[in-house]
Amino acid sequence: MISRSAWLTLSLTIVALIAPALASAADAARGAKLAYTCQGCHGIPNYKNAYPVYSVPKLGGQHAAYLVVALKEYASQNRPHATMHAQAVTMTDQGMQDMAAYLSGQELKPGGHAVGTAPKAGQTCVACHGGDGIGILPEYPNLAGQHADYIEQALKAYRAGQRKNPVMGGMATSLTDADIEALARYYSSQRPSLCSTDEIRKAGKCPGT
Ligand code: HEC
Ligand code: HEC
Repeated sequence: MISRSAWLTLSLTIVALIAPALASAADAARGAKLAYTCQGCHGIPNYKNAYPVYSVPKLGGQHAAYLVVALKEYASQNRPHATMHAQAVTMTDQGMQDMAAYLSGQELKPGGHAVGTAPKAGQTCVACHGGDGIGILPEYPNLAGQHADYIEQALKAYRAGQRKNPVMGGMATSLTDADIEALARYYSSQRPSLCSTDEIRKAGKCPGT
């Protein structure tokens, strides 16, 4: 027999364990309101960043957990980008999770087959980003169908140490410009593809996935 006080202690312990999990559950509806300003750039297909010119990344179909990691890196300036720093530095953890849940929409699922053959320099990449461009862990970004010029920009930023990430920094050091171009072309051609958040707003998921 378990005594009444033991039951009470047990139930309180369970409540204490569950409560934080409930508090951190992402609320996509709240995220939709918070993400209103994001659409001005991420909602417009093929919208470009100026100086240097490259495409604003697609967030639709991305892993929500990765989007939160990325936002925290802009907030801490482990990734350089003035606008994204200004956006991220004011967000709470909960706000980041809610927005990520909304913006990612329905995440792309693994199981597609790779389109074409990975370039030679891509043999190591597939261990984490998959041959089909779907990150094998929620914290590993999906690259399938991402804008090629954004992938190039990101890889060059890791190589130059402007994006401070120990894993990708190590990966990018040995890549030549030609490798980077080939890898960007390869991953941007994978299907099903990431999409703009406007497509998520309209359809709830990336079309064609
Ligand atoms: C003025 C245009 C602009 C606005 C507004 C904007 N972003 Fe961005 N965002 C960008 C650009 C450009 C990048 C790529 C920066 C880089 O090179 O690292 C980016 C990168 C990101 C990334 C990283 C994506 C990846 O694949 O790593 C996330 C996540 C993100 N933005 C979320 C948001 C959220 C959430 C908001 C709204 C609160 C927002 N952005 C508002 C332009 C914008
Ligand atoms: C050990 C796992 C691992 C390997 C191997 C790996 N990556 Fe990554 N990659 C990651 C992680 C984790 C991130 C997120 C880093 C961050 O937070 O900035 C990332 C980020 C990226 C991004 C940025 C995506 C975005 O939306 O901004 C690109 C592009 C990329 N990787 C390409 C590659 C390529 C090309 C290779 C092979 C040369 C490679 N990766 C190898 C784990 C890996």
